[in-house]
Amino acid sequence: MKKSKIKVRICLGTACFVQGGADLLLYNDFVDPAILAVCDIEGCPCLGECRVGNGSAPYVEIDGKIYDGVNQDLFCKLLAEAVKNA
Ligand code: FES
Repeated sequence: MKKSKIKVRICLGTACFVQGGADLLLYNDFVDPAILAVCDIEGCPCLGECRVGNGSAPYVEIDGKIYDGVNQDLFCKLLAEAVKNA
């Protein structure tokens, strides 16, 4: 059976977009292509985390788990970790 891809959602709500979410959308420029091949990455509307206040924007969801304060470096690390643990 074919393994499903890792689901990645980059929050593109206003708070996240202006605090770095827009930079994460350029993932094709800075994420290893081998990692991209096994991930299904999409932008999404506000994940609701900015209203809860646990952490800081931008927020990213990877296979259902929320991460905050994600910059490009952290995004690469989180994806590599997710791929390793898949
Ligand atoms: S704008 Fe990203 S969690 Fe609300």
